[in-house]
Amino acid sequence: MRPYIVAGNWKMNLDARSGQSLASEIRATLEQTHPGGLVRVLLCPPFPLLPSVAEALTGSDIGLGGQNLYPADNGAFTGEVSAPMLAAAGCSHVILGHSERRGYFGETDAFINKKVRHALAHKLLPIICMGETLEQREQDKARQTVETQFRGVLKDIDGDSVGNLILAYEPVWAIGTGKTATPKQAQEMHGFIRTLLSSTYGDSVAQSVVLQYGGSVNADNAADLFAQEDVDGGLIGGASLRTQDFLSIVTAAAEAAKRT
Ligand code: 13P
Repeated sequence: MRPYIVAGNWKMNLDARSGQSLASEIRATLEQTHPGGLVRVLLCPPFPLLPSVAEALTGSDIGLGGQNLYPADNGAFTGEVSAPMLAAAGCSHVILGHSERRGYFGETDAFINKKVRHALAHKLLPIICMGETLEQREQDKARQTVETQFRGVLKDIDGDSVGNLILAYEPVWAIGTGKTATPKQAQEMHGFIRTLLSSTYGDSVAQSVVLQYGGSVNADNAADLFAQEDVDGGLIGGASLRTQDFLSIVTAAAEAAKRT
């Protein structure tokens, strides 16, 4: 059975001290209320915060993830960070192909594919983001867009590796806008991605891939989203910076996990 996974993408927020406090608070709250066990929780802070957040999470069940990487072990790549560096900082996961990276930094599916392969080679599990813009949705090109991204970012990656991945459907129009996909829209796209997985890698791989939804998930809408058959958790931006909101989202995932 697939686990539910809720990841907090802190984006470019907080500093070493405030990030450590937030991580400690989230840890204490989760340990107190025990919604864990059924849900895997990850925190993905900016690079300079990784050591202080790792320290706050030592000995807990909460995992750590990076927000990006460059696909080389080391070298003259000013401003970049490699998979071995993330792993050494305590990361088990890394977010790749986020729409903010695609949009602001021109990342292509081919480049994201290199990053995915680099991450896997270093035993970091990628959370690969895909999703359409509002314009693409309005032109009825949402599925086509997601299928192109799916095939591009997963090119030449074998089924065994794909089975361990997390794919995050993040419609660009829903990110940071307060405009969430309806549970029906989320399920439609997640179901479609599951079908793509099944036709490309077979049903057992398709059934093992965790499909997160991301885009304005909050304490009020999380339960309805997670109740959908193919929504296996969330990639949370703004609400992951507020302990109570994040806790409500994790609790919603735990409730959904209990029902499956
Ligand atoms: P928001 O939850 O702030 O909309 O961000 C979603 C996101 O981009 C997570 O990666």
